[in-house]
Amino acid sequence: MKVAVLPGDGIGPEIVAVAAKVLARVAPSVELEFGDVGGAAFDKFGHPLPTTTLDLAKRADAVLFGAVGDWKYDALPRALRPEQALLGLRQALGLFANLRPAILYSELEAASSLRAEIVSGLDILIVRELTGDIYFGTPRGRRMAPDGPFAGAPEAFDTMRYSEPEIERIAHVAFRAAQKRRAKVTSVDKANVLESSQLWREVVSRIHAAYPDVTLEHMYVDNAAMQLVRAPKSFDVIVTGNLFGDILSDEAAMLTGSIGMLPSASLNAAGQGMFEPCHGSAPDLAGKDRANPLATILSAAMMLRYSLDDANAATRIESAVKEVLAQGLRTADIAHLGEVAVGTREMGDAVLRVLENEART
Ligand code: IPM
Ligand code: MG
Repeated sequence: MKVAVLPGDGIGPEIVAVAAKVLARVAPSVELEFGDVGGAAFDKFGHPLPTTTLDLAKRADAVLFGAVGDWKYDALPRALRPEQALLGLRQALGLFANLRPAILYSELEAASSLRAEIVSGLDILIVRELTGDIYFGTPRGRRMAPDGPFAGAPEAFDTMRYSEPEIERIAHVAFRAAQKRRAKVTSVDKANVLESSQLWREVVSRIHAAYPDVTLEHMYVDNAAMQLVRAPKSFDVIVTGNLFGDILSDEAAMLTGSIGMLPSASLNAAGQGMFEPCHGSAPDLAGKDRANPLATILSAAMMLRYSLDDANAATRIESAVKEVLAQGLRTADIAHLGEVAVGTREMGDAVLRVLENEART
């Protein structure tokens, strides 16, 4: 098995270095090959997703991805911005199914932005469609507004679009995931306004017929945003489009105390996947040994489970993460006021130590 390791920008290299060590510890036979991506690749090769990196990702069984982006690239045209590497990989590898679990570890209840009685035991899964919607819709561009009250004024436009097969396949992913969980799917859209959401609702309802053991509810995205902070435990699996999923997954992340805890998997039809933390590159923290590596470590666990077929190693990593939290280790993002925070490397070393001890006993 070969894993392409793409650290990227900002805190990416630090968190990926730690996660790669953990991966190598639990699955020593997996071959790791490093590549350049994002701003780091732009600086070297003039493109955020060089062909060599794309080829490496295509050849690999899975991709471990850090983060991309830095303010210093803000002035670049959209096609050369670091974020395009991420979108390019998602599209080129056909990674349409983005799984973003939001789990609140009991040790971190105090770090949640919600009261414990509302959020304790939270375990939800956001299934975000990742290769369609307004992110990849055409046409897009700039022009002079052709009509309306602002006719003649400069305007920019993007197109929100979904085809039936794109909705069908992500609906299947959500229903199958729900069958292994609490058997409930909430499909989130804006069908009271958007044509693409009306199609979304129709298709999800049609696919639901094949899963009579799963309950389906539909919810408008504004209401879903509200319910996530009002009664987050009323959800099990949330399935939604690319843009709404982007926003709701950040919201759900914060309920768990820190976005620094949340892993993600992006899968294609062949089971090949890219695994990355839900958080970004946090350039303000880069090089300071302050970032929380647990989201990336947990992403490596998801990789073992979904792409490398080693659920046992995945569970070992997840238990080791629980164990270091129980030992009281906290990076700055999850520390209470007054608690001493450990750095990125120290947190990683603690996870490695747990894995080593467990191997000895
Ligand atoms: C995410 C990120 C990306 C997205 C950005 C960096 C392009 O926010 O993975 O959630 O919007 O999909
Ligand atoms: Mg996002």
